[in-house]
Amino acid sequence: MLSSSSISIHPARGISGAIRLPGDKSISHRYAMLGAIAEGETKLTNFSTGADCASTLGCLRDLGVKWERAEGSVILHGNGPWLTAPKAPLDCGNSGSTMRMLSGILAGQEFYSDLIGDESLSRRPMARIITPLEKMGAKISAGDGGKPPLKITGSKLQSISYETPVPSAQVKTSLLFAGLFADGETRVIESIRTRDHGEIALRAFGAEVKAEGKSLGIAGGQKLHGIETVIPGDISSAAFFLCAAGLFPDSQIIFDSLLMNPTRARLLDVLVHLGIKISVLELEEKHGELSGTVKASGRELRGATIAGADSAALIDELPVLAAIAPYTSQGIEIRDARELRVKESDRIAAVAANLRKMGAEVEEREDGLRVPGGQKLHGAELDSFGDHRIAMAFAVAALRAEGETKIKNADAAVISYPAFFERLEELVER
Ligand code: S3P
Repeated sequence: MLSSSSISIHPARGISGAIRLPGDKSISHRYAMLGAIAEGETKLTNFSTGADCASTLGCLRDLGVKWERAEGSVILHGNGPWLTAPKAPLDCGNSGSTMRMLSGILAGQEFYSDLIGDESLSRRPMARIITPLEKMGAKISAGDGGKPPLKITGSKLQSISYETPVPSAQVKTSLLFAGLFADGETRVIESIRTRDHGEIALRAFGAEVKAEGKSLGIAGGQKLHGIETVIPGDISSAAFFLCAAGLFPDSQIIFDSLLMNPTRARLLDVLVHLGIKISVLELEEKHGELSGTVKASGRELRGATIAGADSAALIDELPVLAAIAPYTSQGIEIRDARELRVKESDRIAAVAANLRKMGAEVEEREDGLRVPGGQKLHGAELDSFGDHRIAMAFAVAALRAEGETKIKNADAAVISYPAFFERLEELVER
């Protein structure tokens, strides 16, 4: 039940049913941005309903791109590669994806643009895109410590070969997008492989992206054409329901048309390792992205250690995995996940604070957490810290706690999944 921005979650006996999730947020952002600089029309069905993707669409409108929503689809009328100088600052809201990936396109446009964000986005690191985009020839100034707002003076770019210092698909995608506006071939090298939606989307819109080991190459000057597609359900939103199913042996949830891209589906391996039974049926591919029907059934949860490349692959799912960790038999340890500290909130601190309020023992570390298993939690007054994934993660943890849990600022969920709490209430059994 949502009252202003605080929500009460009562313990549940189980969770079951079928659900179809709004389109994946990572893919929705990329398709909208490429549709904007493509020639012709792009029709995106099951576009993300989250406020973050609405921020991307808002910025595109301010850059002269015409689009409309019709019967559950977003239709973009591509401008070709050249956008129009915005008349006011581009508001990226809470969305790091919007600011970082759009910057790649704006770096190659011969006009000035100013990108702003909300309080959380204004604290997030942007040097990771500023450094390489400046090497390509754009001029970018930022606030103190390389934080937003960003002031970008775009220009004709030169290609570079760049190894990303932090594993970040947003940075990789930003540079590949900038590569479209550069002379020669831009190469991006990743030591830890991140989600590959940027390269898949570029190919879907007609660009050639060469992959060689850990490096990707894109030649400048390639023309894009619009596409028509259905965006698979967001697997990072599914994570909350999958973990909720894990809390109740005998529960069963079926997801229709869920994203099954292998760089995102690592979550399913971890859940299987924890003990959840998962079957994937009817896999299909559209424009290089896989989706399928996924059936998940709860079992007793064991434990897991998540580290190295897995932490990068599961970066958005780590909060909910940590939130259910006390209910596992052996606990969950998360390492090599320092990036969690610079997300929409400091997610390591937020998870530790909320778990402790629920009575859990937690060891907070600089790069992760260790949460022992076999713990009993009680309801408490928690905070989302204005972070959508923290709000949803603790709604799940609250289902197995004793007594009522209140989550302040729960409306943060609108960032990726506005209907989350309603869907959760429909599926839980009390
Ligand atoms: C995203 C990449 C990740 C992720 C974010 C979406 C993307 O961020 O946390 O929610 O769509 O590329 P980083 O690239 O900063 O790790």
